[in-house]
Amino acid sequence: MAVGKKSIHGEWSSRWAFIMAATGSAVGLGNIWRFSYMVGEHGGAAFILVYLLCIAVVGVPVMMSEIMLGRRGRMSPINTMQSLAEEIGARRAWRMLGWVGVIAGFLILSFYSVVGGWSLAYVPLSASGAFAGADADAVSETFEGLLASPGLLVLWHTVFLAFTVFVVSRGVEGGLEKAVRILMPALVALLLVMVGYGMASEGFAESVSFLFAPDFSAMRMESVLVALGQAFFTLSLGMGAIMVYGSYLSSRSSVPGNTGLIAGADTLIAVLAGLAVFPVLFAVGLDPEEAGPGLVFVTLSAGFGQMPAGALFGTLFFVLLSFAAWTSAISIIEPATAYLVENRDWSRGVAAVAVGAAAWLLGIGSALSFNLWADWQVAGMTFMGLMEFVSTTVLLPLGGLFIAVFAGWILPRRISQQELAFGSEVSYLVWRLVMRYFVPVAVAVILVYGLVDVLG
Ligand code: TRP
Repeated sequence: MAVGKKSIHGEWSSRWAFIMAATGSAVGLGNIWRFSYMVGEHGGAAFILVYLLCIAVVGVPVMMSEIMLGRRGRMSPINTMQSLAEEIGARRAWRMLGWVGVIAGFLILSFYSVVGGWSLAYVPLSASGAFAGADADAVSETFEGLLASPGLLVLWHTVFLAFTVFVVSRGVEGGLEKAVRILMPALVALLLVMVGYGMASEGFAESVSFLFAPDFSAMRMESVLVALGQAFFTLSLGMGAIMVYGSYLSSRSSVPGNTGLIAGADTLIAVLAGLAVFPVLFAVGLDPEEAGPGLVFVTLSAGFGQMPAGALFGTLFFVLLSFAAWTSAISIIEPATAYLVENRDWSRGVAAVAVGAAAWLLGIGSALSFNLWADWQVAGMTFMGLMEFVSTTVLLPLGGLFIAVFAGWILPRRISQQELAFGSEVSYLVWRLVMRYFVPVAVAVILVYGLVDVLG
């Protein structure tokens, strides 16, 4: 494969555009909604420490591999895996890796979009002052009310997906890149405002010790596994989202350097989000440990309701959360969209609408799982719980495992060495060792544990 080959879908206009887009993919509901309640549930700083370790020793090497494979293949993950397999004389079945990713993408997007819809719904709700002075019960009733309404959930889910399809239909440079160029700086600015607000509040000191002074007695074995799953989810790994973004990256750009910046920015933003969320909770004496998935919608809104200028800052918070979700969702539908353009010769617009429509239909199931279909359960999981479990706990680790095996064992050394272009031989050898031995074992352990835990 000629060096310098370009993707038919276009290319990022610069290395920074790629970094912003990949960071936009990484930073999402996972950093703010999911991270906050997981930190809350698993005891704070000790969990964060383990999570950081997972990012560094599993997330970073896997991300390098995904970017490398995408950039080498220059197509959607399905066709990239097929063409790489052909190039090196491996089995064509490796294209299944791309298919697992596409399926995982549909499942993730279907529930991601419903939660993205909650976030959108909370912008006008907070702005209207609905939470000002309201007590925790009233705020929780508002959330329950939203969940009880199939019409409202489907409406906001539709709006969220429409935004996502709109961006993706406009292409790599005119859509994805343009969106992240506007949304990412806005997101960072809003986040800094929110952290400033948190610092000025009375809960700041308590938050700092909650987030940074580890108490390992709160750690359980399960917390380690949850931390590893969260590391995959937050870095958008295991389904080809980062691979497809890598396929639009110039071959002159450094893979390890870019990976470090993206993973660093994602981690910094998760920690800053913690410094924005927890002070509001502690300032008004709310407990993050009990909150669960309702943490940012119920507990945090109740917090804002009792703070000075809470309606304004609460609204800004949900604008921030919506932006973060939006720049992630576009990366979830990009692999399937690119595939349809390549193999069906569809225009991007038609492909994006088709993928969006399929995810929309599946998402209806998640929306209804809070009301009409609440009683339909498999192994104690509602429809949305099942989507989240199958995609995050099963398919992402499975995808990560196959990526590690392919990059570490199947791909010839000369190719990975040339594509990664580490400055030093030692760094390359460390990457290779980690990909061949550590990542497959660590990931296989979470996979088995996750399955046994839920199905056993
Ligand atoms: N990383 C995003 C978040 O933290 C979600 C996301 C985007 C994702 N693309 C993905 C998760 C691909 C898994 C796979 O919210």
